[in-house]
Amino acid sequence: MSNQVKTRVLLGITGGIAAYKSAELCRQLVKSGAEVQVVMTAGALEFITPLTMQAVSGNPVHHTLLDPAAEAGMGHIELARWADQILIAPATADFIARLNAGMANDLLTTLCLASDAPMTLAPAMNQQMWRNEITQNNIKSLHNLLGNRLRLIGPASGEQACGDVGPGRMTEPQDIATAFMSSPSASASGASSTIEQSDTNSSLAGLSVVLTAGPTRESIDPVRYISNHSSGKMGVALAEAASRCGAHVTLICGPVSIPMPEGVKIVSVTSAQDMLDAAVEQVSEADIFIAAAAVADYRPATQAEEKIKKSGDEISLTLVKNPDIIATIANHAERPFCVGFAAETRDLERYALGKLERKNLDMVIANDVSRSDIGFNSADNAVTVFSRHSDGAQQQAFDAMPKRQLADLLIEKIRQYYHQSRGE
Ligand code: C5P
Repeated sequence: MSNQVKTRVLLGITGGIAAYKSAELCRQLVKSGAEVQVVMTAGALEFITPLTMQAVSGNPVHHTLLDPAAEAGMGHIELARWADQILIAPATADFIARLNAGMANDLLTTLCLASDAPMTLAPAMNQQMWRNEITQNNIKSLHNLLGNRLRLIGPASGEQACGDVGPGRMTEPQDIATAFMSSPSASASGASSTIEQSDTNSSLAGLSVVLTAGPTRESIDPVRYISNHSSGKMGVALAEAASRCGAHVTLICGPVSIPMPEGVKIVSVTSAQDMLDAAVEQVSEADIFIAAAAVADYRPATQAEEKIKKSGDEISLTLVKNPDIIATIANHAERPFCVGFAAETRDLERYALGKLERKNLDMVIANDVSRSDIGFNSADNAVTVFSRHSDGAQQQAFDAMPKRQLADLLIEKIRQYYHQSRGE
């Protein structure tokens, strides 16, 4: 780390109750090697003091636009140019609306307008305010205006300060810091040329990651098959996240109708047997294997060569067990770090821990598929990660959030455990 230029983060705090968590967020950013300048709106000053933020950031806090003393120090344009990254946490509905409107009526909005640095928002507001079409339109419009320059972390779902339950909680500070600092733009900004070789374990650079995703299709006859509702979104999001972290990524994907990520090698397969053959072939040089596919457990014992004709009132189909892909890979002598999924409708922990042991995995990412708002075929997911350590299994829960965002956090966890498993 010693020669690494620090990422310069402008941390904007706006006026929501979650502002009290910004002190911990700032501490985590500094701990991860960022240089942080804090800018607070008038609303934020009602929730947390500049003195607290100065203590945790180690820098004077900025909160006034037209302050001669502050301008004599680091003027607002200078501050806008200084930032490699802008992170606004919490980002209130009001701030998001003003940002989208291009307002420059306080120091923070002015800085955002005067900078072309990547911008990350961690929204926090009442669930109805978040769901309101006006807020959703503002978010969509910001995505359209800023493209890849804009990233959202959260909001998480759960109990809110006002007593409501729903989406709008600010993502926990540790998770924001992890996702933010693990994004390639944050970890490499201005410093890429000076990162030492030994620092490559802070990304997946140079590592090979193979993933399975989507459903498998098990033929009954030339026109019929057995399959499931897996959309492939989680596996594709993980492949993209691993690729953003610098890994060489191979995605072995069953039949899905979503776009395939760019910069990733795609191997398209249909049945579980095809998927196993592709995995065995691709995994020989892999460092990490992530099995996100929803593999059909059984296939028809025989596939009819001709379309089966309608006949009596009943027809029976004999099914035989499919090979377990991840268990096969995980039980090879020269195996990669193996991450499996567990989709359960009950007893999540018991089944997940059972899979960790039985399939000889390093990590299991478990989700509750009985909930219709997350998991299968939905844009959001909430998971608990179980991992195997020398001193027993550990677990960590991740609140419901968009799969793309969750993928960044999961890849960061996989990266950490992968390096720990190698004693690095
Ligand atoms: O046993 P179960 O299907 O619940 O296990 C889920 C995990 O095992 C997932 O990671 C899935 O991709 C993987 N799996 C597999 N091959 C199978 C069945 C599941 O790789 N035949």
